[in-house]
Amino acid sequence: MTMRTTTFDGDSNPLELVPLFQGMSPSLLGELSRRLRVVTFRAGTAVFHADDAGSMMYIIIQGAVKIFVPATDGREVVLAVHRTGDLFGEMSLLDDERRSASATTLEDTEMVSLSRQDFLEVMTRHPEASRAILDVLVKRLRQTNQSIQDAYLLDVPGRLARRLLILAREHGIEVDEGIEIGLRISQQDLASMIGASRVAVNKQLQTWRQKGVVDVRRQRVTILKPEVLERQFSLSP
Ligand code: CMP
Repeated sequence: MTMRTTTFDGDSNPLELVPLFQGMSPSLLGELSRRLRVVTFRAGTAVFHADDAGSMMYIIIQGAVKIFVPATDGREVVLAVHRTGDLFGEMSLLDDERRSASATTLEDTEMVSLSRQDFLEVMTRHPEASRAILDVLVKRLRQTNQSIQDAYLLDVPGRLARRLLILAREHGIEVDEGIEIGLRISQQDLASMIGASRVAVNKQLQTWRQKGVVDVRRQRVTILKPEVLERQFSLSP
């Protein structure tokens, strides 16, 4: 990991590119800029581990970070993949508990970090910052509720279809053939996101590939027929 102090000036404040900060007052942006540090991590680097003490939260300027809970048998439960503009690591700063999950970069990633003290001070002084964090937490709770419903109600093809469409919505890039998921994501990671085995995910992707529903190349999935994926979970009980 490398770390350097931010030198944001008025014209090139990278925070303005982050949706979370768009529309926020110049005084809040200025205060954040003075307190933030830029940190860069190579792909595949642990930012922190579950159960570590939490001292920093992070906002991704460029790149992708996997949030997961490691199981004792070596498997992982992938809770989320965060990308440009997303923040993470705020929970342990808010409740003073240990890290609820591990965070590892999926790509070379540039982030800004904010210490616990600065984070709590900014939240206290700027109600708009607290509101933005609440919005993030509520969105996550909705997503978690949806995942719980899916785990109870859908079979593996249904869960995989829904997850691919969510990834396409959040990280999709329009290409001639359809929508490419703009993340290099392994079949093991996909399996860990939906509570299935890698073999089951591989088998289902092969079936959809043969039917021209998806294309998979070098860990990149392109959705060619989203309507077929949608039917996969809307027909399930
Ligand atoms: P923290 O507990 O400090 O460290 C792990 C981080 O992962 C946590 O803060 C959140 O930022 C993030 N995280 C935990 N659970 C989820 C989830 N269900 N969805 C998205 N991000 C999460």
